[in-house]
Amino acid sequence: MAAEREQLIELLQQAYWMEIETVMSYISNSINPDGVRAQEIRESLQEDIQEELGHATQFGERIKELYGVVPGSLEFSASQSYLQPPEHQTDIVHVIKGVIEAETGAIDHYNRIVEFCDDKDLVTQDMVIAILRDEEGHRRLFEGFLREYKAEGLA
Ligand SMILES: [Fe+2]
Ligand SMILES: [Fe+2]
Repeated sequence: MAAEREQLIELLQQAYWMEIETVMSYISNSINPDGVRAQEIRESLQEDIQEELGHATQFGERIKELYGVVPGSLEFSASQSYLQPPEHQTDIVHVIKGVIEAETGAIDHYNRIVEFCDDKDLVTQDMVIAILRDEEGHRRLFEGFLREYKAEGLA
């Protein structure tokens, strides 16, 4: 049981860092993009920042409830290469695709946690399912944005 809890804490710590990095990426991408069409994307990311921050906090709190420790900043290592600022700040498709990739990464990882929690920890499972639903909503929204660009031959 103790070994399994350790494993779960590690999965939750990874989820915590994913949320923190997403907050960083969404802040920059809610500011950098230029152009009329960038406005919608910027506003949408601004809203998501608060949600992702809430997710990070929930993961942190659950780590503590399971007798783990929320990691310090020195343990952070970045991995969202796809959400770095594009060469041109009018390149909105780059941002949209990056967001879809980040959300997909979160969805995959959270599905893994939900599965891991089966018959073990229904409270964590319940929390992660709710967060998973948020991420699916985020991804669906940006898939819709991408669809519009594709219809116009811009993506
Ligand atoms: Fe999130
Ligand atoms: Fe998200």
